[in-house]
Amino acid sequence: MSEELIDLMQQSVAQELAVSTQYMWHHVMGKGLDSPPFRDMVKKISIAEMKHAEDIAERLDYYGVTPTTKPVEVKVGGNLEEMIADDLAAEKETISLYHKVIDRADTDGDIVTRDLFEQILSAEEDHAQQFSSLLQ
Ligand SMILES: [Fe+2]
Ligand SMILES: [Fe+2]
Repeated sequence: MSEELIDLMQQSVAQELAVSTQYMWHHVMGKGLDSPPFRDMVKKISIAEMKHAEDIAERLDYYGVTPTTKPVEVKVGGNLEEMIADDLAAEKETISLYHKVIDRADTDGDIVTRDLFEQILSAEEDHAQQFSSLLQ
């Protein structure tokens, strides 16, 4: 596994840890009449993101790399619309990062990592779609 791929996968773990916390806190803090469907949605997605963190960490461990425990910035607070906008922005960042991981895994001939991130990318696109439709 190349240093570039390791670095991208560590960024991926940091991203997954951050969004998992961000969405669970949005589940806890979301207020207002429109909040119940949002709160249910972010709770489910938060759990999915923690599973992504686990899957990527396991792949790093397979290569003998200690996965990071440090999340990127977690955005909490604001009204419901601001929360959803922050969540959509986080998904877009994740999608962009995973395209880079897939490209690099391809260059390295690491089919298993590429396959893992293709599956996760598909889930992230679905999350982005869910947040995007809530904003409309
Ligand atoms: Fe994820
Ligand atoms: Fe996601």
